[in-house]
Amino acid sequence: MATASEIAAVGVIGAGQMGSGITQLAAAAGCAVLLLDADPTALSRAVASISASLRRLAAKGQLSQAACEDSIKRIRCVSTVQDLRDADLVIEAIVENEDVKKKLFVELDKITKPSAILASNTSSISITRLGSATKRPSQVIGMHFFNPPPIMKLIEIIRGADTSDEVFAAVKSFSERLGKTVICSQDYPGFIVNRILLPMINEAFWALYTGVATKEDIDTGMKLGTNHPMGPLQLADFIGLDVCLSVLRVLHNGLGDNKYSPCPLLVQYSEVRNTWLLTPEIIAVYS
Ligand code: NAI
Repeated sequence: MATASEIAAVGVIGAGQMGSGITQLAAAAGCAVLLLDADPTALSRAVASISASLRRLAAKGQLSQAACEDSIKRIRCVSTVQDLRDADLVIEAIVENEDVKKKLFVELDKITKPSAILASNTSSISITRLGSATKRPSQVIGMHFFNPPPIMKLIEIIRGADTSDEVFAAVKSFSERLGKTVICSQDYPGFIVNRILLPMINEAFWALYTGVATKEDIDTGMKLGTNHPMGPLQLADFIGLDVCLSVLRVLHNGLGDNKYSPCPLLVQYSEVRNTWLLTPEIIAVYS
């Protein structure tokens, strides 16, 4: 199994919000990155946004021009899981759906080299269960980045019941090589951060739903009253309402307590309207 300094080739699966940020970090740290997505347009969007982001860093003097262009050259888009056969570490950031992720881990287990570490960026799905879909559960681990990965300083590492000490140590040092601070969570629903964060976001939806206050006052209250950089409703928009809903359902099912039951308003925005809450800041970011 590769140690952190030997991790030279990284496979990233899912070129959405998280996968593109993870790709940028790994390429800037000197790794060759193979980026895979089921949707070819997601790949071209990701490469454009990573290149723009690295060039912004170079323009600000936070990265040399040469390092910026070299990082971009280290990224190769691929179209099949088989193309990841030489990766030392694969990080998946596909849709938050346990069956889909398990199917991917089964495939990865078959095609990657025996020493490869398989990591999931899941927000809430059990790493032990993902690992048990493979014949190498000791090499399966959670690497939970935060959004947006190049900016957020934290990686929450989740040890499945079978994750080995060697794999944990390698992934911890690799995360530090990416410039991140690491925290370690055991494999319980929501891990550390989402276990605490999602009930707060859900409560903000309940407050809005039951008419306690406007969405602006709820967000301003939590921003200025608790010194958070943004309010919980705006944060929910940034995370994605579908991701919030899916994490809450995992907490509700896994911990068996009704306090985690998703607020109907969150369900409605996510599943029926399929939109953001449309706070002005979010409209500005996405328009
Ligand atoms: P996204 O929707 O922006 O991107 C997901 C990408 O995966 C899409 O481009 C999609 O085409 C691709 N994809 C889906 N199924 C695939 C498959 N079977 N094979 C290859 N590509 C596939 O999602 P996002 O927000 O980047 O989330 C990805 C993962 O990261 C999820 O597990 C989510 O829970 C987790 N996460 C999300 C955070 C967030 O703030 N959005 C924060 C931390 C973790």
